[in-house]
Amino acid sequence: MGKHIQAIRGMHDILPEAVAAWHRIEDTARRILAAYGYAEIRTPILEVTDLFKRSIGEVTDIVEKEMYSFEDRNGESLSLRPEGTASCVRAAIEHGLLVQPQRLWYRGPMFRHERPQRGRYRQFNQIGAEVFGLTGPDIDLELILLTARLWRALGLNGLRLEINSLGDPDERRLYREELVTYLEARREDLDAESLRRLHTNPLRVLDSKHPQTQKIVADAPTLMDHLGEDSLAHFQGMRHGLDQAGIPYRLNPRLVRGLDYYNRTVFEWITEDLGAQGTVCAGGRYDGLVEQLGGRATPAVGFALGLERLVELLALAGHAGEPAVHAYLVAVGDQAQLEAPLLAERLRDLLPRLRLVAHCGGGSFKSQFKKADRSGATFALVLGEAEIAKGIVGVKPLRDESDQQELGFDDLVDFLSREIESPD
Ligand code: HAM
Repeated sequence: MGKHIQAIRGMHDILPEAVAAWHRIEDTARRILAAYGYAEIRTPILEVTDLFKRSIGEVTDIVEKEMYSFEDRNGESLSLRPEGTASCVRAAIEHGLLVQPQRLWYRGPMFRHERPQRGRYRQFNQIGAEVFGLTGPDIDLELILLTARLWRALGLNGLRLEINSLGDPDERRLYREELVTYLEARREDLDAESLRRLHTNPLRVLDSKHPQTQKIVADAPTLMDHLGEDSLAHFQGMRHGLDQAGIPYRLNPRLVRGLDYYNRTVFEWITEDLGAQGTVCAGGRYDGLVEQLGGRATPAVGFALGLERLVELLALAGHAGEPAVHAYLVAVGDQAQLEAPLLAERLRDLLPRLRLVAHCGGGSFKSQFKKADRSGATFALVLGEAEIAKGIVGVKPLRDESDQQELGFDDLVDFLSREIESPD
């Protein structure tokens, strides 16, 4: 027998028992995004490599060492998308979507050849939103409020919001010079990676994980002190909105993000419950990117959330999602075996959201109950000769100690419809 072939390191199967949590997040996000007027866009997983080089930046971890790039049969360099923003901008330019403001969202797998660890994968899934054509802080605020609503709907209360402003390119250029001078004076204490970044992408030194570098960075000049009037007013406008909405946040002057396209607002939602990879959602403004990729200058802002991290958080919080199956119909005896599919049909007609597995293939009560239990169903519905004679169905709770009941058809429909009400 040949050796078993396994999934690629850092790329995971999502097994049936985990899917309920995925659905819960995806369905809730889809509902909320639609409620705010965001339209879904689907773009290819493969793009020409240049798209990511020109948008994310040549001197970023993603472009330097994490992209899955290969030569197509015609010699063109293609890459699996490491994120969704660049593709979204490419598509918006290509299809002329930017003549008016656009609120878009997307969902799907992204690929980065990072060192796998808890919460960090080589194939991971994002839900992202991108807004084009709006300059004010009101839309930055809307995006943060939207994500805050999503956390509430999912029952996640432990997330911390961090915000910063990266200013405009001119402000950043001046700041960059000052930062480089400050770091140059302390270069012998910097770690190797930060030294390398010192002249290519010095802002990234600010979020170095190296303890010695962190000490140096703690006293470094901050970008916030270099913001011009307009950038400050933008930032204050958003902060005012967050205060009014009662959303607490932490100002983090060292929040710089790992992608080069940002200006002004950047933000992250962070949890302490997932270890080192605690950022579940991140985003910000990128007013220069559309023009940089050949489109007409168009302001833009967006975010993306990491589905794997949210799924793990939901599991820790104990509300992973609706049960995959509400009820399992146990049918014992020849007559019941033939009546069960018909009873199941009548229930499905009246309760379209009911998830009901009707046992097929006969067998004893005991063996059918084992299968009912394994299905994850909340209830077993029992149909045997006695129940048929009495015109009732037995209802046996499988997940708690509540009483078994015998219900006529109408009462059974009422009972099940109460049970399948959505949790959010
Ligand atoms: P990002 O910070 O690179 O931003 O990724 C956003 C989120 O995706 C992260 O906060 C994290 O939850 C998740 N994520 C990233 N890498 C991994 C990984 N290797 N494994 C698991 N989860 C991961 C962006 O991608 C930007 N496109 C966000 C954005 C949209 N900015 C403006 N619009």
